[in-house]
Formats: sequence, structure tokens, C-alpha cells
Amino acid sequence: MSIKRTTPLRVAVLASGRGSNLQAVIDAIEAGEVHATIVAVISNKKDAAALERARKHGLPDLFVDPKPFAGRPDSREAYDRALLEVLEKHNVELVLLAGYMKIVTAVLVNAYANRMMNIHPSLLPSFPGLEVQKKAIEWGCKLAGCTVHFVTEGVDEGPIILQAAVPIFDGDTSDTLATRILVQEHKIYPRAVQLFAEGRLQVDGRRVRIDGGHPVGEAIISPS
Ligand code: GAR
Repeated sequence: MSIKRTTPLRVAVLASGRGSNLQAVIDAIEAGEVHATIVAVISNKKDAAALERARKHGLPDLFVDPKPFAGRPDSREAYDRALLEVLEKHNVELVLLAGYMKIVTAVLVNAYANRMMNIHPSLLPSFPGLEVQKKAIEWGCKLAGCTVHFVTEGVDEGPIILQAAVPIFDGDTSDTLATRILVQEHKIYPRAVQLFAEGRLQVDGRRVRIDGGHPVGEAIISPS
């Protein structure tokens, strides 16, 4: 059963770079497709384009410098405690990792269990980690894609919410494939946020059940 919210879902986005997925979520909210409000865009990189995108849309942007935490044995946890303070101060209900290139620790994962999502440019559990488009091509895969999943301590391992598949063409480079995948990322990330806002995601072990969700009817065969 989905739950009707009266107030928009309070979302924070953690991003380290370009921020095109952040932009897709902003655009979907502004278009009225996602019932949410972005209460903070946070980066570990001072010059992240994502922060600039936030400012352009009048959204609160925040650079949290990892340097003061470096060198201590619990540097990653200490950094995440600083982030958690910000998230709690803003009453954040859902955290989105959007090109956030830092591994989150149990500090954040536990505080936001089943309330923190990540987008990853592969069909998980194939190709977790980095340079995944290149790896998919090198493996000779005929399909690639992207995954939105809840975040757990294992990198790119959490329960899968939505996936989109794209073909890999003979002439593809990492860049051409990444671009094709990115188009789909921009569709499924806002969609996952809206499903969450509607209370339609139920986590059952590794599986996420979507209230009223229907799998695509046909197999995707590549090459056709
Ligand atoms: C996206 O392709 C996202 O899936 C990937 O980084 C890119 C960020 O782009 N994330 C990961 O690889 C995380 N494992 P963006 O900054 O334009 O959203």
C-alpha cells in the first residue's frame, strides 16, 4: 500500500563531480514529477560542478572538507559523523549518492538504512567499482546499463531498486557507452525517488518489492 504524503520528501544529495544525476532529480522535482524537496547538496570536493548546479537552482550547497579528518585512524567515520550531523540538522529523509566518489561507512549506512540510494553505471551485481563501462566492453557484454540500489556497507552491493539496460555496440568506447547509460540513469534515479516518496518500496532481504510495479513484458535481446 502506498502512503500519501502531504509534505514533500526531504532529500539530500551527496555528489563529488559533474552532478548530471543531481540535475535530473532537480529537473524532475521542478517539473512536478517527483514530490520532493532538496534540502542540501553536499560535496567532498570544493569545486564540484554539482555545487554550482545547486546554487543555480537556489538550493543549499555545502562543501564538507575531508582534510581536517585525514590522518586519524577513524578518518572516514569521523567525516561521515560530520555529514550525519548536517543531514540530521536538515531532517533529511532520503540521501542520494549521485557520483559521490567516497565510500560511505557504517556511520551513515546504519543511520540511513533503506533510506540512502546510489546510482551505479552497470547492471549490478556485474561490475561494481570503477571504470565499469570499459570493463563491460572488454568482457564482450552485449548489454550494459545502470542500477539504483539502497546503500549497504559493501560497495555497490545493496538491494536493487531499479535497473535499465542498453545495448553495447561493436564500435563503442567507454565514453560512448557511458553516454548511452547516462541517459537511462537520468530516467531511473528520479523515478526511484518518486517511488520512495510514494512509500512504494519494501525491502525484503536482498529484494526490493515495488507496490504496483510491473516488470517489462519482453526479453531484451542484443544483438537483435
Ligand atoms: C554516473 O555515471 C554515476 O552512475 C557514477 O558516476 C557518474 C556520476 O555522474 N557513479 C559511480 O560510478 C558510483 N559507483 P554525475 O556526477 O554526472 O551524476
